[in-house]
Parts: sequence; structure tokens; C-alpha cells
Amino acid sequence: MKYDRAFFDRGLERRNTGCEKWDADFLNEDTLPLWVADMDFACAEGIQRAMLERAQHPCYGYNTDEKAYSDAFIGYMERHHRLKIREEEMLRLPCVVTGLKTCVQAFSEKGDQVAIFTPCYGPFAMSVNCNERELVSVPLIEREDGGYDMNLAGMEKALQDGAKLVLLCNPHNPASRCWKKEEIAALAALCEKYSVVLVSDEIHADFVYQPDAFTSILHVKEKNVVALFAASKTFNVAGLQQAQLVCKDEALRKKTENVLNRNGVTSGNTMALAATMAAYNEGDEWLQGLMAYLDENRKLLDKWVKEYLPKARLAPISATYLGWIDLRAYGKTCDELAEMFKKQGVALTGGTFFGTEGEGFMRINFGCPSAWVLEGIKRMAKALEE
Ligand SMILES: Cc1ncc(COP(=O)(O)O)c(C=O)c1O
Repeated sequence: MKYDRAFFDRGLERRNTGCEKWDADFLNEDTLPLWVADMDFACAEGIQRAMLERAQHPCYGYNTDEKAYSDAFIGYMERHHRLKIREEEMLRLPCVVTGLKTCVQAFSEKGDQVAIFTPCYGPFAMSVNCNERELVSVPLIEREDGGYDMNLAGMEKALQDGAKLVLLCNPHNPASRCWKKEEIAALAALCEKYSVVLVSDEIHADFVYQPDAFTSILHVKEKNVVALFAASKTFNVAGLQQAQLVCKDEALRKKTENVLNRNGVTSGNTMALAATMAAYNEGDEWLQGLMAYLDENRKLLDKWVKEYLPKARLAPISATYLGWIDLRAYGKTCDELAEMFKKQGVALTGGTFFGTEGEGFMRINFGCPSAWVLEGIKRMAKALEE
């Protein structure tokens, strides 16, 4: 299989596959869904083959594939991110959000303050709130060009005021931002100064566009930090539910392990393990093709937003396949925008899903054929014209 432009241009028919993105109840039959973060591309051939091969054996009992799985993950992280991880530093999870919730439970008590930079992927706040901790939103600094910077002074204030834990989205969803090494190091130093654990959700690590480069929290610090990874976004296998917590700090790792045991969280279902190992071992070529395609899509998105939505502003995209569009100049709330877009047959994620700072914004998913991105932008433009 050639993972070239033609491959990704083909997209996929996903309706009636029980797919959240295309089959959700609130969508009409002709809605173009550019919302939830998964991609409309067939996964790498090796992933499907690995599952089909495993499925051939007619028994799906308990697994003992830990070593092969760990080797695949360790090899991938070293090849792609120059990270050296040892097997004993890994804990398997069903998904990254499980990792966030586990860390909230492990490193804070009920009523404690937990700080995040906002706007931020909704389940960060939900992980804090559902565990009866107090959410401290530290607004990112909005730049003139629509991009965002880390608000380190705001975070220091939150730590001075007693925040017990920091959850970082790295790279950042929805700001489409790859944090620079200096920023990650400065945040890590702040957490060190106040003896606070820093948890870094690095699920978007592979979606960084050159010349930017991904910096893991593990590149700058080993003590008092936890990183969360998954093949789910990278290889478009989120429905399989498999993720990875990495912690080089033994005392911290034991705490997270205790929480996982207490909650009875185990992971590693047969198909997820087979698929994830194949992704990490054999997915490089597909990923290379994907990134070239997405890089082009992000440039096209920028061009089309300027052309069709002249009052809108797209945050510069250095990471993720998600664009953060500021539509405040059109004077509508997210609910109003969603309704208008629905009438024109396009669904995006409303900015308030990411916190109150997201009012008047919409997040667009450009992990799909370029032609669909253009169609989505045209439908948005039509909705805003009326
Ligand atoms: C930053 C971030 N973390 C976590 C997730 C969800 O990951 P999982 O399905 O592994 O819980 C997403 C999905 O969009 C995300 O953007």
C-alpha cells in the first residue's frame, strides 16, 4: 500500500459503523462532521492485518503480551522522540483520560485545587470536577495573531495560592500549539519550586509540524512528573482503548499503580494489544504519509479561512489536526453558531467545551480529505452570510 496523497484523499465511508463522529444522534443525514478528534482515514495496513491474524485464533482469553507490547512502545518512543523508557516505568491504561483521572486521585485530595491552562480539552476539567477537586483555570495568553502562549505568571500565582497538582496538555488541544522546550522547562521548574506534581497529556506528541519539535515533559524532568501517551490519536485507533502512563519517579508510579488497582482498572484487551503493537512496530510509513498530508491541510485551512471567513481568525497551527477558529467578530455564541452550522450541514466542536474562554470559538478537525475541509468551510461561510 502506498500512503500517498491519493490514499488520504480517498477518506472513508464511516456512516452506520457505530462511529461517534458520523453516527451521533445530533447529526443530520447530510451533516459533514468535523468535530470529535478522530480522522477519516483508513489505518495502516499492518494494524488491520495484525487484528485479523489474531482474530483467526478462536480464543480470546487473558493475555501475557506485556513484554512484546512494552518493546514496541519503547522502540517507538526512542525512534520518534528520543525518549529512553524502561519497561518498569510503564503502566498500561485503557485510555489517556483514565490516566488524567488516575493522577487526580493519586496526587490530590478531595477539595484540593488542581490547575490547568485554559481553554483546554474538556475532560481535563471534568477529571478534576468529577473527583470533587477544585478546578483552577489559568487562562493562556492570547497573542495578536490568534495564537496562545503559556501563562507562567498566572500558573505561579495558582501555585502560590495552593494548587496541589498541574495538568498540562502537551501539545495543546485546542490551541493547536506545540510548546517550546523553554516553556516546558519553565513550567517544570515552577512545579519543582512549589513541590507540585506535573502531569503531561502527550497524546498529540506525534502531530507536530516542522520546524517545531515536540518536547516531552520527560525530556526536561524525571522526578515528580507523569506523562501520558497513546497510539490512539496517532494511528486512528481510539476505539480500541489502549494507552500508556510513563513515570520514572518510582514513588509517584506506585501511587498511580495503587489507584489503578483500587479502581480495578486493567487494560490490554486482545485486539488493542495486537493493533497497538503493529502500529508502533510497522506504522512509520503510514504516519509519514499522514503528516505530509496534514501539513498540507493545515496550510489549506489557513488559506480557506482567510478566503471564506474574512472576519474569523485561525490560531497558528504548530501541532494537532485541530484548528481553533475565533469567530467572535460574528457576534454569536457557540450555541448559536452550532445551530447555524447545523442548518448548513456542518458540525464542529463548540469552543465552550474547552472552558468559558472558548465562547465564540469553534474547533475544526482537519484530519480528513482536503476537499471535505473546504466543503466544511464553505458551509460555515454560507451559514454566517445568512
Ligand atoms: C488532549 C487529549 N487528551 C486525551 C484525549 C482522549 O484520549 P483517550 O481516548 O485516550 O482518553 C483527547 C482526544 O481528543 C485529547 O485531545
